[in-house]
Amino acid sequence: MKVAVIGVGHVGLVTAATLAYFGHDVVGHDEDDAKIDSLKRGVAPFYEPGLQELLDQVVDSGKLSFTGDPAQAIRGANCAFVCVGTPARADGEANLLAVENAAWAVARNATGEIVVIQKSTVPVSTADRLRSIFAKATTHRVRLVSSPEFLREGTAVEDSLKPDRILVGSDDPQAHKVMKELYAPVLGGDCRYFEVDIHTAELAKHACNAFLALKISFANALARVCEASGADVVSVADIMGSDPRIGRDFLNAGLGYGGYCFPKDLLAFKAVAGRLGYDFGLLEEVMKINRGALDSTVRKIKDALWNVESKRILLLGLSFKPGTDDVRESPALNLAKALTAAGAVVVGHDPQANAAAQHDLPGLKVVDDPYEGADGAHCIVICTDWPEFRDLDLVRLKGIVTLPIIVDGRNVLDAGAVAEAGFSYIPTGRPPSNL
Ligand code: UGA
Repeated sequence: MKVAVIGVGHVGLVTAATLAYFGHDVVGHDEDDAKIDSLKRGVAPFYEPGLQELLDQVVDSGKLSFTGDPAQAIRGANCAFVCVGTPARADGEANLLAVENAAWAVARNATGEIVVIQKSTVPVSTADRLRSIFAKATTHRVRLVSSPEFLREGTAVEDSLKPDRILVGSDDPQAHKVMKELYAPVLGGDCRYFEVDIHTAELAKHACNAFLALKISFANALARVCEASGADVVSVADIMGSDPRIGRDFLNAGLGYGGYCFPKDLLAFKAVAGRLGYDFGLLEEVMKINRGALDSTVRKIKDALWNVESKRILLLGLSFKPGTDDVRESPALNLAKALTAAGAVVVGHDPQANAAAQHDLPGLKVVDDPYEGADGAHCIVICTDWPEFRDLDLVRLKGIVTLPIIVDGRNVLDAGAVAEAGFSYIPTGRPPSNL
């Protein structure tokens, strides 16, 4: 099948590469010239494990190409995936201008019947707006589908090649036929195909992200109570998680959730619910607890250091989660801003995200070597649970820091080992040691 993918960011590029891998002829388009230039040179514009290798394979096989011209991507396509950004507006509502522009581009450039697959996360009822554009702007038949994406950064290639579900919102049998053909290589086995109406599909994506954020905030609220009572939030989460009705995933307390999706999706979901007449106050509480998780870490650092002015603080992990160089809405960068504002000298280290962090926060000093960052530090803070931080040589670190204090914002270290190396250890929602 001939497929156009409009928007080749984290979702669009992985989707384009996956569909090409499945054997379809895919053309990716983006209005960001730098991104398209990079892709034309064969270089993935961001870090995602396995993505470069997958791109090499499908570009070499001639199944995937890129263009800055939307007409070139859409001309002759049987299907067009819309994978553009939907950032938050100041009032919390999703900004759908890029989605609207993509729809106009498809309508103007379609050369025959086309299935339009809306993959960007959008508020419920966006499809009605899109339908009216297609009704006005093209004489070709447009079969509209909402098929939100569930891939996670850091495991996006794996999630996309082996999805656990394909969600398809459409009441058009022909559209379902096309979707099943597109995803034929993965349907059947463990991957469920959900066939629902278009509004249900749109809303389900917001519901999933909001619920995952709710689990994280529940764990962070528990962490505060555990800290006050001397209980251990990791054990509490393990006990809760052993109940299959609850599940252990996304119960890790820490600095809170960040990234491009959860923060904007919670705002948008709350806003659209409000517009529809329901005050989804629970979501406001989830967001409040998330902000509190960061504030609590700032407080712990200040308590440990007494006066933070001029103290050197090393932040380990700058990306919003491990396995990515994405620093959008990264709790680590928000922490860096808060500590810098309080007068601290903040140094950051990330296995992949140093350049992106520096780009977003030009004042932040970043180092490639965590030991260089620790040299003379008064406090080390673990902000992102990159697996490499578990293997840090604590004895070596102890030899080079000015004050031996570790604040573990992701509970990655072993308390016994940290104390044995001579550090004061301040984890999240667990009893501190060696204070
Ligand atoms: C999220 C969803 O998990 C995906 O299913 C969805 O497709 C995607 O958003 C999207 O809407 O595009 P992602 O933003 O890549 O994926 O990252 P997550 O793995 O969900 O993590 C989000 C944040 O929560 C990270 O900052 C992570 O560190 C934090 N987190 C996660 C916790 O603080 N505790 C946990 O237990 C789990």
